[in-house]
Amino acid sequence: MALFIVLLITIFSGIACRNVTISNVIPRRDTNGSILDAHDGNVFLYAGLYYYYGASYGLCKEPPGPSGCTVWHVGGCGFQLNHNVSLYTSPDLSVWTFRGYVFQMSSMKTPGIMFGPRVLPNRKTNKWVMWFNFLPASGTGVSQSQCAVAIADTSQGPFQLVTDKVTTLAWENTGDLNLFQDTNGDAYIIYNAHIDASVYKPDHLMSVEKLSDDYLSSLGKEFNSGFFGQTFVEGGAMFKRNGVYYAVFGQCCCYCSEGSSVTVYSSLSPLGPFDTMNNLGNDGHAQLYNILPYKISGTDSYGYIWQGNKWQSSPDGAKGHDFTYWAPLSFDPNDSIRYMNYTANFTINI
Ligand SMILES: *[C@@H]1O[C@H](CO)[C@@H](O)[C@H](O)[C@H]1NC(C)=O
Ligand SMILES: *[C@@H]1O[C@H](CO)[C@@H](O)[C@H](O)[C@H]1NC(C)=O
Ligand SMILES: *[C@@H]1O[C@H](CO)[C@@H](O)[C@H](O)[C@H]1NC(C)=O
Ligand SMILES: *[C@@H]1O[C@H](CO)[C@@H](O)[C@H](O)[C@H]1NC(C)=O
Ligand SMILES: *[C@@H]1O[C@H](CO)[C@@H](O)[C@H](O)[C@H]1NC(C)=O
Ligand SMILES: *[C@@H]1O[C@H](CO)[C@@H](O)[C@H](O)[C@H]1NC(C)=O
Repeated sequence: MALFIVLLITIFSGIACRNVTISNVIPRRDTNGSILDAHDGNVFLYAGLYYYYGASYGLCKEPPGPSGCTVWHVGGCGFQLNHNVSLYTSPDLSVWTFRGYVFQMSSMKTPGIMFGPRVLPNRKTNKWVMWFNFLPASGTGVSQSQCAVAIADTSQGPFQLVTDKVTTLAWENTGDLNLFQDTNGDAYIIYNAHIDASVYKPDHLMSVEKLSDDYLSSLGKEFNSGFFGQTFVEGGAMFKRNGVYYAVFGQCCCYCSEGSSVTVYSSLSPLGPFDTMNNLGNDGHAQLYNILPYKISGTDSYGYIWQGNKWQSSPDGAKGHDFTYWAPLSFDPNDSIRYMNYTANFTINI
């Protein structure tokens, strides 16, 4: 009996409070032993569980060299028509269970390329809403990129397409997108766009825009921050801490192995105006896809993890096995974020 009680205490204290070491050099695996194939997606805490939605690129061989961005529609690896959106869940950011493909591009009437899926639960409508980048197969490349939205009754989908082209956004020719949910349930999209689709560089500008209450569309120019920050940027993410809204993004890095250094912008309002803060560097050689607030065990406080894709880093050549690089953010008393040193691993109390 005593042993039983000790065992129970051990189990419960284990659940209530655990130090988890997160590695950036050992591939992240699910409970089945498979390497997580979830890229350029989002990770968030909802009702005590961490949800990780991401694009699955599968087992095609990535091209050798410093860039995987060499091919568009045919026969390549990365910008293909068969991508799926995967969901993994975890109680502690360490043990991940694969919940299946929650959306498959093969279910689309119009074939195309999907990347950058982001999901949010909507408390008002009780639906799960997914936004993703969609490049119709008939298009010629990046200038045809548009935002698509899908919806599901549960976290595990299957998500059903609502529209393959959101027409309410202030800017067309959209690039990477990310979603941010405020504490009051309002949600925002941070996305980059080309004003002039005929030039690629340096025209690639970031802005933030409020979503409609149901998250299925956006509220357009009147609820757009206007472009801010550097040009030729992508990979944006937003979060809120101590009443400060942060927008973080870096230079374009199309499946590039170099990764991208990110600059921090902050504001007291989600739609800005944003002040330019510091640059966090690129010591991890990764491209930002998410900033994850996690609950620090035994407190009401949150820690923040920077998460990026390490393109062209696959241990066995399969693009789906590219590493992701995670690093804890640390803050100065004046709320600025400290430079991000490289970390092979770090331990959090979760
Ligand atoms: C977690 O680590 C902290 C400091 O590193 C330590 O004080 C604490 O006892 C550890 N907690 C558990 C449950 O191991
Ligand atoms: C997406 O899912 C389908 C059906 O399970 C599968 O055949 C296909 O290989 C998957 N695509 C990738 C890129 O893994
Ligand atoms: C684990 O792998 C087995 C065998 O491949 C498969 O049947 C099962 O669906 C997988 N389960 C999960 C949660 O991935
Ligand atoms: C915040 O404090 C740090 C360290 O004291 C300093 O380097 C940084 O310039 C400050 N940032 C702002 C925006 O004042
Ligand atoms: C990064 O490394 C420098 C030099 O070792 C150190 O002074 C600084 O505190 C480190 N920053 C963080 C956030 O750990
Ligand atoms: C964490 O990284 C350090 C430095 O590279 C290494 O010595 C240590 O073994 C690693 N720990 C784990 C748990 O991976």
